[in-house]
Amino acid sequence: MQKDKFSIGVLTLSDKGSRGEREDTSGVLIGEMVSHLGDVVCYQVIPDDVATIELTLCRWVDEVRLDLILTTGGTGLTPRDVTPQATARVLDYQVPGMAEAMRAASLLKTPHAMLSRALVGVRTNSLIVNLPGSPKAARENLEVLLPALPHALAKLKGDPSDCAVSDAPGRPG
Ligand code: MTE
Repeated sequence: MQKDKFSIGVLTLSDKGSRGEREDTSGVLIGEMVSHLGDVVCYQVIPDDVATIELTLCRWVDEVRLDLILTTGGTGLTPRDVTPQATARVLDYQVPGMAEAMRAASLLKTPHAMLSRALVGVRTNSLIVNLPGSPKAARENLEVLLPALPHALAKLKGDPSDCAVSDAPGRPG
């Protein structure tokens, strides 16, 4: 039986990328990593500006009604890193466990993982995930969420099935 496919947006936050001065390898990589979940129907590279990020996230949720939005970049500590601030403004509620899981797994790879302020949360029925900006960091963080994403997205779409009997993926090793 064909599983539900989800509509996905990839939003890259990069001043240089938005000016065409840097190739967006992270956004492309993220799109490839979630292609099994559905179609990437929205993709943009925009500057690190709170108002622009907020407006884009609101449009993608309120008008396009995407199921999943993955942002990349702007989660660190430089003055231009504003993605978590903008994301916090649009979320109805956070899903702290998903952000905690990304940081916990990433800390096993680099102590710099604690510098990412990435948020995960829900606006209406859309899951919004912040990922760091480098392709390596984006991949390592997204990999952590992938096993739980189908269940999370199905629940957000109103799947009434009992969680206890649904097909939970096992842990590797
Ligand atoms: N997480 C993983 N798994 N791997 C990494 O290499 N880099 C860190 C961190 N998270 C990293 C990571 C670094 S160096 C920074 S500064 C923060 O993510 C924030 O990155 P951003 O500003 O590109 O969003």
